[in-house]
Order: sequence, then structure tokens, then C-alpha cells
Amino acid sequence: MNDPRPLPLAPERQWKGEGTSRLPFWLYTDEDIYQRELERLFYGPHWCYVGFACEIPNPGDFKRTWIGERSVLIVRDRDGSINAVENRCAHRGVQFCKEPTGSRKVFVCPYHQWSYDLKGNLLGVPYMRGIKGKGGMPEDFKREEHGLRKLQVVNKNGVIFASFDPNVPSFEEFMGPTMMKYFERVFDGRELTVLGYNRQRVPGNWKLIHENLKDCYHPGLLHTWFINFGLWRADNESLNVMDDNHCHSAMVTVRNTGGKSEATEGVSSFREHMTLNDGRFLDVEEEHWWGGPTAVIHSIFPSLIVQQQINSIAMRQVIPRGPRNFDYIWTHFGYAEDTPEMTQRRLTQTNLFGPAGFVSGDDSEIIGMLEDNMHTDKDGEVLCELGGRDVADADTHISETLLRGMYKYYRKVMEL
Ligand SMILES: [Fe+2]
Repeated sequence: MNDPRPLPLAPERQWKGEGTSRLPFWLYTDEDIYQRELERLFYGPHWCYVGFACEIPNPGDFKRTWIGERSVLIVRDRDGSINAVENRCAHRGVQFCKEPTGSRKVFVCPYHQWSYDLKGNLLGVPYMRGIKGKGGMPEDFKREEHGLRKLQVVNKNGVIFASFDPNVPSFEEFMGPTMMKYFERVFDGRELTVLGYNRQRVPGNWKLIHENLKDCYHPGLLHTWFINFGLWRADNESLNVMDDNHCHSAMVTVRNTGGKSEATEGVSSFREHMTLNDGRFLDVEEEHWWGGPTAVIHSIFPSLIVQQQINSIAMRQVIPRGPRNFDYIWTHFGYAEDTPEMTQRRLTQTNLFGPAGFVSGDDSEIIGMLEDNMHTDKDGEVLCELGGRDVADADTHISETLLRGMYKYYRKVMEL
């Protein structure tokens, strides 16, 4: 943690009562809260997702990304290892790299051409000893003391996470054994292939997307596609699980064949006679690694949701942009072992997800509709009592336990 001292908050920012079955609206709008979140969550002792190793296969390859609001470069080193550095020149603080990806032998800041190697070490300072005996850096200036800020990095089966905090726990400790099991279900070391990207700016607080993907109550109500075709609805098998800190979660389900049931009674998004003109969108093939579930939505707090929903798999990276917006970057992927037919199947099913997805378009829109009211009532609060007021794993979709769990962890770390 960069600074353990609580920042002063306005007196009205007192979270009334114990527990997390009520969530004050100011959690989603307040600038001081947001700054504390950046420090303690994104820049604190957490592993944030930054990319896949396969996105930077060769020495010198880099990808530009973000942790919180800080721009970060992940770079393949000459020995094949992966480094992460902050995209901020040690001289004047210039965000020197503006390209999303590329390849470099050295990084050079355009302003005064300070140059850095692939580890972020400062290589050169133009006119360091002055010109004609005049000017230059002081005698005691040491290049080795002025490199780029270096982050901790872990490459877990091809997925790269980084942390600004040198005291971050090991990735396994951060995740806990249950969450590692879900992680390794998707990432067991098989070679990954990127199928494409989407990015969108969503008008809402970044926590709302985590809430959305811990809220297993909504999918069979909001999403016509889910209730109609049985991919995710109240009569599916269900499991909501968390790590011991309630920081991360997995929302697990098994699809059914859809159609009318107790779960569709009175549900306005259910269209009894709706069929697809193009059946390829739901041409599902069960895969050997699923192990039962047909969908697992795995939140790795605070920066990532790993989505497996039928044959569509994606990393959903969360990048806060002030308290009232976030960027949502989707990396749709598959495995090198996939047949061309499976790759096409994954791509076709990706029409359900992403910014304009048949399903996920609903979520971004509803987050905007939440955001519309969050700032209109300083005493407003979210009711979060479905399935009780406590936090525990659950085997029903009619529960908000994962939201309460996330805020239990959040409330502790944020000292609210
Ligand atoms: Fe949703």
C-alpha cells in the first residue's frame, strides 16, 4: 500500500451501519473516494491484468495498457522475460509512448530524448556533461537512480499481471486456492491466441461492472438472449463462490434448453416464440476443459473479469476514468490447439459480447442508467439484501452475496 494513512473524507461520507447490505451512492461519485481507490486498490497490493504473453512474442515487443489511471508498458526482454514499466519519463514525467503496440530496442522520450532499455534503465541523457564545458547534469547525477518506475510482474500460464506495490503477495496467495482452480480451468498453460479486441467507454463508476458480473440475479431478467435460450436464468444450476477475503469471485452456471418454465413466468424479456434466423450464434460445442459449467464469470478484483460463456472466452479489463466513467477493454481469445471451426465458432458467439453484443450491450446501457441517478441524492443508497445480509457462498441465482462480499473486502481496505 503506497500510503496507509486514511485521507480525510467529508463528514457526510460515513458509511452508516455495519455490513454491506446497503451501499451509499457516494461510493460511486465522490472524488476523494475515487482517489483512495486508485491508491489502495489499483496501485496497492493487488495484481492487475495487463495482457497476454502471446501479445508480445519477440524481444522488444511491447503493449501499452493501464493500471488505474497510470499508463503502463509491458515489454518482452532480450532473455524472453517480461517487464512492466510505467510509461512516464523520469525527467519531466512525459507519457512518452502513445502507440498501443510495437517493437523497440530502446524507448526514447520525444521531449528531451532521454532513452531507456527494455528493463526501464536509463541509458542516455543528451548533453549529460554539458556542451563546451557548460551546463549539464550535476556531477553526482547517477543514471542508475533515474530509470522508469518498474512494476512487479507475474506471468501465470501466459497471462500477465503487474503491481505497483513491491510488497504485493504472490499471485497464488492473492487469488487463494479456490480462485486459482477457476483461473487454471481456462489458463492451464495451453498456448493462447488473440482473436480480437473491443474497447468502450462506459458512463458509470468502475465498480458497477464488477457488481454486474457478481449479480447473478439479473442475467435471466435483463437479457432476452439469456432467458430465451437458457444460457443463464433462474432455473439453471448455479454456484457463487469467493476466496477467503471475498475479494474475487466466480459466478458459475450450467445452461438449460430454454423455453417456458417457472423461471419465465411474468418475465417481460422472455419471448416465447423468439427463434434465431441464424443458428450459428448458438452452435455450441462442449469443450473438454469445461468440466460441467457452461459459463463461468470470474472476477479478479480490481482490474479483470475472465468470461467463459459457452464457446466465447474473453478478458474484460477494467480501467477507471474518474469516478463516473470507465474503459472496458475486451480481449477475445482462443487456444492454439483450436480447429479452424472452433475459432470461427468462438468469433461468431462473440456477437453476444463486447460493446454491441446481443447480451453485453444491455449491461453497458443499464450501467449508464444507474449512473444517471447516483449523483442526485447525497443520502441515496443501494439495497443489497437478496439472499440475506451476510456473505457466504451460495448455490442460487437469487442472491447478491458476491456483491456484499466484494464490498466487505472493499470496506476493510478502504477503511470506510
Ligand atoms: Fe448482464
